[in-house]
Amino acid sequence: MKIIYHGHSAVQIITGDKSLIIDPFLSGNPLAVTKPEDIKVDAVLLTHAHGDHILDAAPIAKANQAPVVANVELAAYMSWKGVETIGMNIGGTLDLGFVKAKMVQAIHTSGIVDEETKTVIYGGVAAGYILRVEGKTILHTGDTALFSDMKLLGDRENIDVVLLPIGDHFTMGPEDALKAAEWYRAKLVIPVHYNSFPVIKQDADQFVSQLEARGINGKVLAPGEAIEL
Ligand code: NI
Ligand code: MN
Repeated sequence: MKIIYHGHSAVQIITGDKSLIIDPFLSGNPLAVTKPEDIKVDAVLLTHAHGDHILDAAPIAKANQAPVVANVELAAYMSWKGVETIGMNIGGTLDLGFVKAKMVQAIHTSGIVDEETKTVIYGGVAAGYILRVEGKTILHTGDTALFSDMKLLGDRENIDVVLLPIGDHFTMGPEDALKAAEWYRAKLVIPVHYNSFPVIKQDADQFVSQLEARGINGKVLAPGEAIEL
C-alpha cells in the first residue's frame, strides 16, 4: 500500500485499485501541492467538522461518487451538500471492503462556525480512525490533545503507523506528541497538522530527532510525498 501525505491532516491511502482520503484540506492550504480535482478515491473519511479538515470533502466525494464517512451529525451536515454519506460513531468499525475503519476517541471540538448566520452548528465530537489495510494498522488520530487512553490503544492495537498532530495551539504540540508516540508504540510516527499556518509552525525534523532519541522511528513527509508500506 501507499500512504500519501497531502499536507496538514490530509492523508491518502492507496491499496490495489482502491483508495481513501482522510480530512482533505488542499485548496485552502498554501503548502499543498495536489489539487482536489486530482484526487481519485473510493471514500472520504472525516475526523471532525473543522474547515481545515472538511474543506474539499464534498467536491472530492461528488467528483468520485465516493461516500463521506463521518460521525452521524457531521454526516447529516455533509449529506445536505449533496453527497452520499455513512454516519457512524466512536467505538464502531466500518467495513468498506478494502479497509476496515474504526472510529476512536480524540480530545478536540467539532463545531461548524457559520459566519453568514452567526451560528455554530453542532458537528458531533472529534475522532480518529484506526485503519486495517493489507494486514497493517494505521492510526490517524485526527486533531487531539494528549490523553491517557492513547496507552490503551497502544497496548491493544499493534499500530504500524501513527499520524500525530504536532502543531500546538489547536492540538497537542511536540512535547505532548512525544509522550503520545511512546504510548501508541507504533512502528512509525509521521507528524501532521503543522506549518500550514504561522500559529502552528513547528520544526518537524527536530521532533523526529527527539523521537529517535527515544528509540522511536519517525519520518517527516513533505506535502505530496508518499511512503510504501
Ligand atoms: Ni480541528
Ligand atoms: Mn485542525
